[in-house]
Amino acid sequence: MADIAGKLVRISGPMIAADGMLGVAMGEMVKVGKLGLMGEVIRIDGETAYAQVYEDTSGMFLGEPVVAQGAPLSIELGPGLLGQTYDGIQRPLIDLQKTSGDFIDRGLSADPLDYTKKWAFTPKAAVGQEVTGGDYLGSVPETEYLDHNIMVPPGVSGKIKTIVGTGEYTVQETIATLEDGTELTMTHKWPVKLPRPFKKKLPMNQPFITGQRVLDMLFPIALGGSAIVPGGFGTGKTVVEQQISKFCNADIIVYVGCGERGNEMADVLDEFPKLRDPKTGGPLMNRMILVVNTSNMPVAAREASVYTGITLGEYYRDQGYSVAMMADSTSRWAEALREISSRLEEMPGEEGYPTYLSTRTAEFYERAGRVDCIGTITKGDEGRRGSLTLVGAVSPPGGDFSEPVTQNSMRVAGGFWALDAKLAYSRHYPAINWNMSYSLYLNDLDSWFRENAPAGWMENRQKAVDLLQRDTELQEIVQLVGPDALQEHERLVLEMARMVKETFLQQNAFSDDDAYSSLDKTGHLIEALMLFYAECESALSAGVTLESILSHPIREEVSRLRELNPEGFVEKKEKVVQEMKAALQGLVEKAA
Ligand SMILES: Nc1ncnc2c1ncn2[C@@H]1O[C@H](COP(=O)(O)OP(=O)(O)OP(=O)(O)O)[C@@H](O)[C@H]1O
Ligand SMILES: [Mg+2]
Repeated sequence: MADIAGKLVRISGPMIAADGMLGVAMGEMVKVGKLGLMGEVIRIDGETAYAQVYEDTSGMFLGEPVVAQGAPLSIELGPGLLGQTYDGIQRPLIDLQKTSGDFIDRGLSADPLDYTKKWAFTPKAAVGQEVTGGDYLGSVPETEYLDHNIMVPPGVSGKIKTIVGTGEYTVQETIATLEDGTELTMTHKWPVKLPRPFKKKLPMNQPFITGQRVLDMLFPIALGGSAIVPGGFGTGKTVVEQQISKFCNADIIVYVGCGERGNEMADVLDEFPKLRDPKTGGPLMNRMILVVNTSNMPVAAREASVYTGITLGEYYRDQGYSVAMMADSTSRWAEALREISSRLEEMPGEEGYPTYLSTRTAEFYERAGRVDCIGTITKGDEGRRGSLTLVGAVSPPGGDFSEPVTQNSMRVAGGFWALDAKLAYSRHYPAINWNMSYSLYLNDLDSWFRENAPAGWMENRQKAVDLLQRDTELQEIVQLVGPDALQEHERLVLEMARMVKETFLQQNAFSDDDAYSSLDKTGHLIEALMLFYAECESALSAGVTLESILSHPIREEVSRLRELNPEGFVEKKEKVVQEMKAALQGLVEKAA
């Protein structure tokens, strides 16, 4: 154990200073006070070390001991992570709650993984084999649907001297030894602030599919990409992140909740375990890890939780899985940085945030990516690929996107899904503003959509974008001079845009048939709408009045397509399209 021990000389909320700490390293963990609260060294000044403490420091006295732990904040990685709910420093919340109730006692610790559980291990490596970091020693079925690949930890390499046979082992038993004497178990530790290594980043040319029409069609991001969801109070950030968690095409979801309000996190703890996995029918938690800050944890724990979350994500990425990490909300993390920085009396930057906010934000988003994983490539094997996609909610005060956290995050994330208070207020959900939002991945994803999505995906997308654009321009004219100034063709634009908003862009998270929209449903729905628009256009040109088009019941029929279950959607849509064509043909004949 460590032998550097000093004494508390200053306590300022979540920040402490201790003297007599010569030799302690930046980022090293310390145990603070008689309770042994966990902290992290964030500044060293001669023999004085400053640390942020992950638990409430109240009631602590100057002179109490501070003991260096000899290692940076690290988490333990191995089978049994899926389904867990951790706090920011990987303490299993459910276990702690059992021993201590809703308000978790300070200084408590609990094993991050179940050390007694036996896992059915199947070896994949053999005695005499040369292995390096990332190579598989074997695998265990972590859940019914997912094999956990037991890797040689990054940085370790050598020749296998012994390896166990097929059988049941706990995560702490030695399963292999190397010639140099290194003993390997099914787990290893990793410092959360150090990105896990990979061979190289790959082009991002596959979409991260969310099941949300407005995102998948208008602002899709790539697997391994990143997006931010900025939005004022109550605009729907959490609902968006939860919808994506449920329906996205990632194998594994890491959900980091750093809420401000205690009950918000209680909701998460209550809700997620009840969710069904649309892919398997089993609990969604089977392929999820929750990292949640309880409201009685101080700001420093929020800082740790985003790093803990992303390290968990990288670990499964390294096994060749696609992982999505949701962070709700990253603003709480930035506020933690601000609070600690001000207690350190650092020179403040914009709006009191530390000047390193932009670097920290960039470093965080850079941990997303689609990569060639580490590990030996053998003959006829192209190696392993994994991805980590990041979606970060941002809560700008007053919904003002010019504030530093939104601005810094925008600079580094490839997707911008802007939530609009006006839309939320008029109950247009998800309240994603189609004029402000964007995706930088469109070009890279173009060929994927052309090859894999329903025919005409990109063309219909462009038509919808043009229609919405035209609508915005016309709305301005209407604001100035009223609707009477518009011609019938222009009024049709407004009507059709309204239909696109209500039928396509809106999506009810609480409706069984609408919460998830498959690529098929999304592609065919927009096609039906754009066909309807084109047919209405030609009917108008053939002398049909706008009034008779709009009052025809077929319009309602087309709108109702949205409410249909994705199952069997295409056939039902074909039927409505035929009826629609016939209806408009009828109007044209009548007019003639
Ligand atoms: N897609 C949706 N479908 C239906 N209702 C929605 C949808 N999105 C948001 N809502 C409604 O908006 C409410 C607020 O959403 P949410 O809690 O996600 O907002 P938030 O931005 O996370 O708020 P806070 O700023 O408090 O964290 C939800 O309780 C729900 O009623
Ligand atoms: Mg929220």
